[in-house]
Amino acid sequence: MIGRREFIRSSVLSAGCLLLRRTLPFAAADAAGADSRIEVLLEEPLGTISSNIYGHFAENLGGVIYDGIWVGENSKVPNLNGIRKELVEEMRRIKAPVVRYPGGCFADSYDWRDGTGPVDERPRRTNFWADGESVASPASHKYDPNQFGTNEFVHFCKLIGSQPYLAANVRSLPAEEFYRWVEYCNSPAGSTTLADTRAASGYSEPFGVRFWGVGNESWGCGGNFTAQEYAVEFRRYTTWVPRYGQELSFIASGPNDDSWDWTRGFLEEIVRKGPRELRSIYGLALHYYAWNLSRDRTKNWIEGKGDALKFEALDWYELMRQGDVMESLINGHWQVMGEIDKEHSVKLVVDEWGPWYRPGSEATPGDQLEQTPTLRDAVFSAMTLDIFNRHPEKIAMANCAQLINCLNSLYLAHGDKFCVTPVGHVFGMYAAHQGGQALRTIFSSPRVSYDRDGKSASFWGLKGSASLHNKDLVLTVVNPHVSEARAAEVGIRGASLNSGTVTTLNHADIRAHNSFEQRNLVSPQTKALDVKGSTLSYSFPPASVTKLTLTLG
Ligand code: AHR
Repeated sequence: MIGRREFIRSSVLSAGCLLLRRTLPFAAADAAGADSRIEVLLEEPLGTISSNIYGHFAENLGGVIYDGIWVGENSKVPNLNGIRKELVEEMRRIKAPVVRYPGGCFADSYDWRDGTGPVDERPRRTNFWADGESVASPASHKYDPNQFGTNEFVHFCKLIGSQPYLAANVRSLPAEEFYRWVEYCNSPAGSTTLADTRAASGYSEPFGVRFWGVGNESWGCGGNFTAQEYAVEFRRYTTWVPRYGQELSFIASGPNDDSWDWTRGFLEEIVRKGPRELRSIYGLALHYYAWNLSRDRTKNWIEGKGDALKFEALDWYELMRQGDVMESLINGHWQVMGEIDKEHSVKLVVDEWGPWYRPGSEATPGDQLEQTPTLRDAVFSAMTLDIFNRHPEKIAMANCAQLINCLNSLYLAHGDKFCVTPVGHVFGMYAAHQGGQALRTIFSSPRVSYDRDGKSASFWGLKGSASLHNKDLVLTVVNPHVSEARAAEVGIRGASLNSGTVTTLNHADIRAHNSFEQRNLVSPQTKALDVKGSTLSYSFPPASVTKLTLTLG
């Protein structure tokens, strides 16, 4: 096992060293001491990267809504109509495209009407997650005060420039309530009683909500259905929903692992009424959490989890291995979908993803499912976003679980305290990929080798993704090795480089994280590159996320 001292790398290693080679052709680069090669193939576009791949998830769970997003209009915490101002500013900065709400499992016990009408007349309800709350949790986490409902959520989305994605209740509300929620959100001003209710709260113009999840994890907390039973419900819930000139995109509840049977069973039942039924599905949800760090010792959900902050290099690699599974799930489910949906009109919507650790690292004690993201989670998140970028034809949307104070948070907040986590910084760096043309990129690098309980194990050496935006090329690269830099020759075939910058997120300690006290311990550093020719050499620091932005001639 690699010891702690080896994690603390010298500043020389972590600095990232640019060795520019102006004239050498790409094929000759190895001679200069590079151990790795990256080749961006400008002539091999993969498709447009949907901005919505960079989406978020905010469930009414623990400290996500109350304390995280919503502080209330009368709070001393700077706010915009009750919404945390610092959060709004940060989310604008990362170009947040879409936010999923109100769950998660919470969605299938939520009555949307509770969160409408005059705020002081709204009911208090038992939160789906109440039984998991501790004595240290505030009352608002157990008993939903409904101060934050549809109006406030849509207003939040408007403030940050995002589209709302609402998850409807299939387990405990009838289909009628689904289309009434659509009516409340989207019917024109003055047209319906629900439009008048909306207007009475100050929102006369329709919200124009396009994305609607039809239940959540319907095989489990969302109703305990079989795939076939759920497909019948899906058809029923989506058969008549008013449009009001607004495109509606329905997202079906999908698997959370390699349950190919769910994907196949659901789609087979959908097309039992004919192949046209596929048109009613915009996306099939896929959830994937990397949680089992037991190295195959157990499959127990509680015992298999690791610690967010206390970990060794071995645990770091184990998380990366778990994260890498995402790509095989995408390919696997896509293949199964293609058996029934030959034209692939249904896309994948990875609307929950991220690492999930055991309790104990909460920035705010009492916040259920809160964990403190470290550099490890930043590298994991970058690796995951690169996977999405490499499959633009398959992935229509993805939503990191979750936005704030929960699981793979971009932000931590409590009262007037706030910080951006290393994961939040990755979203800031990767925003540059949004809407770009993904390009096939070949990475070759020595594999990471490590001891996995007496057996030798290995993991890829460098990976990433590239996208083109007119003349600007964005290349993001992850080096998962905890202690070794990778010296790479980067070749952009068929183009010359005019200028460039490099942004690096790394730290000498792989457990480094930001906190309310040390808000900027892990933060990206940007510097200019002096580039010319079509090849450059770059040394990717250990345990790092790097973004190269290159302007082509
Ligand atoms: O993100 C936390 C929970 O994980 C969600 O509510 C549920 O959909 C998933 O199981």
